[in-house]
Amino acid sequence: MPLILDSSSESSAADVGPDLQEVRRRVHHEADVVIVGAGVVGSALAVAFANQGRSVILLEKSLKEPDRIVGELLQPGGVEALTRLGLRHTLNDIDAIPVTGYTVIYYDEQVPIPYSVIAGQVSDNAEKKQSGGGQFEGRSFHHGRFISKLRAAAMSHANITVFETEVTGMIGASHVSQILGVETLTRKTQKECFFGSLTVVCDGYASKFRKGYIPFAPRVKSRFWGLELIDCQLPTSHHGNVVLGDNSPVLLYQIGTHETRVLVDVPEGLPSASPANGGIKGHLQNVVLPSLPRVVQPSFREALDRGGGLRSMPNSFLPPTTNKTPGLMILGDALNMRHPLTGGGMTVALSDVALVSDLLSPDNVPDLYDTRSVLKQLRSFHWRRKNMTSIVNILAQALYSLFAADDWQLKYLQKGCFRYFQLGGKCVSEPVGLLGAVIHQPFVLFYHFFSVALYSIWILFRENGVLMFPLSLIQAVFVFAKACVVIFPFIFAELRS
Ligand SMILES: Cc1cc2nc3c(=O)[nH]c(=O)nc-3n(C[C@H](O)[C@H](O)[C@H](O)COP(=O)(O)OP(=O)(O)OC[C@H]3O[C@@H](n4cnc5c(N)ncnc54)[C@H](O)[C@@H]3O)c2cc1C
Ligand SMILES: *[C@@H]1O[C@H](CO)[C@@H](O)[C@H](O)[C@H]1NC(C)=O
Repeated sequence: MPLILDSSSESSAADVGPDLQEVRRRVHHEADVVIVGAGVVGSALAVAFANQGRSVILLEKSLKEPDRIVGELLQPGGVEALTRLGLRHTLNDIDAIPVTGYTVIYYDEQVPIPYSVIAGQVSDNAEKKQSGGGQFEGRSFHHGRFISKLRAAAMSHANITVFETEVTGMIGASHVSQILGVETLTRKTQKECFFGSLTVVCDGYASKFRKGYIPFAPRVKSRFWGLELIDCQLPTSHHGNVVLGDNSPVLLYQIGTHETRVLVDVPEGLPSASPANGGIKGHLQNVVLPSLPRVVQPSFREALDRGGGLRSMPNSFLPPTTNKTPGLMILGDALNMRHPLTGGGMTVALSDVALVSDLLSPDNVPDLYDTRSVLKQLRSFHWRRKNMTSIVNILAQALYSLFAADDWQLKYLQKGCFRYFQLGGKCVSEPVGLLGAVIHQPFVLFYHFFSVALYSIWILFRENGVLMFPLSLIQAVFVFAKACVVIFPFIFAELRS
């Protein structure tokens, strides 16, 4: 049985050479950090810690290239975080497509919101330089190819050992309620144990281990159904295209030279997707297909007929919480989730990795076995990450409510939002800066959200005309109240410790 409770200074990377550390990881299963899950967070965090000279064990249940419909569009803010982590090269040679903005399609109208208009808005020069002199660009790609590149970066690192094994439980010292490591099952038969000063759980959206350490469970109101379209013409190429109208939103973005991802939001219990109406296929065929822009319809129909890899994922919301368990850190989707409408998950993941590896660097916490210092830094992490993540979280949830509008108040807010974008200028440049995760001032989001609400009310008055003024007044109150109901719960969720 490997010992971890011995003098911790003896086991820190600084005192033992890298070769000995490798033996400690491979043979004795001991390291400074044990990471559960080699997804976006796990792989990037392993490299960040290893670059600081920490000894890292990375555990992943399957090292096969993932084939999923998630994490395919990285916002400019995510590219920026990846660059800060020294991992920008993982976007090369994966047939990634540059993303230069978004286009919102509302019935027969559309409005482009390019990232290029952000440049004037971001005052932080360092940020501008990082992303190439004000050139804000995202990337979209096949998720699995990106993950394979991140994993390759981890596997080739001298200070990381990767094991293909499924984590089955935490190992704790009950008298101090401290996590010491994990139990695993290798090749479905062989039980193993791994020990670290710090155990990081980043096993994704369906985390088996968050329960017991996080007081909330994920809430799911809808699912994204995904298809892969071949040689699809998009309303605006190199943009994320969002289709709004009578139905829940549909997202379209190119993920390879020939492939385009379509994600169709389907609320829970939607009648047109019920078995009696032909299930999800019936819904896609009868309701979604006719509502799509003309240019998209042929490849959508073709993908439907072919099967097109049709599958779904739950769209979850999980508010953030502070890590309070000694020896444990929960990160990524296991810790915090928002609706994927705005493609913010990986951007949050990567900027969290950059921030937390900085807060836990050897300069700040020489020995990770010093759980008091680690927990102090994790408290600070919880609040400091908000400059970016609270924006991504609130924006995703609020925008989803508007874009999936299912009552008349929300319909007004949806229309108001679209017309607001049509105004151009700051009404586009700042919102797209928030979407791209390159504006880090939560107040900017608050300001534009309520500007949209007031603009919606103005549209309502204008449409109703002078004669209906009294009715308009009452309706205006309802619309404004709705706007508050939409955003305040998510703001409060961010204010909790
Ligand atoms: C439909 C949908 C679309 C999305 N689209 C986007 C998008 O376009 N852009 C974006 O930025 N974000 C998107 N997201 C969110 C994004 O996918 C996640 O935020 C991101 O993948 C989270 O990274 P993670 O490392 O926490 O989890 P994951 O990337 O899921 O990684 C978890 C890893 O842990 C491993 N694992 C799990 N359990 C165990 C175990 N017991 N033992 C060992 N290993 C284990 C898994 O195999 C996996 O490799 C989307 C989400 C959904 C649902
Ligand atoms: C690996 O860790 C050692 C300290 O043990 C450090 O000196 C070295 O720079 C690290 N290697 C890399 C590639 O970062």
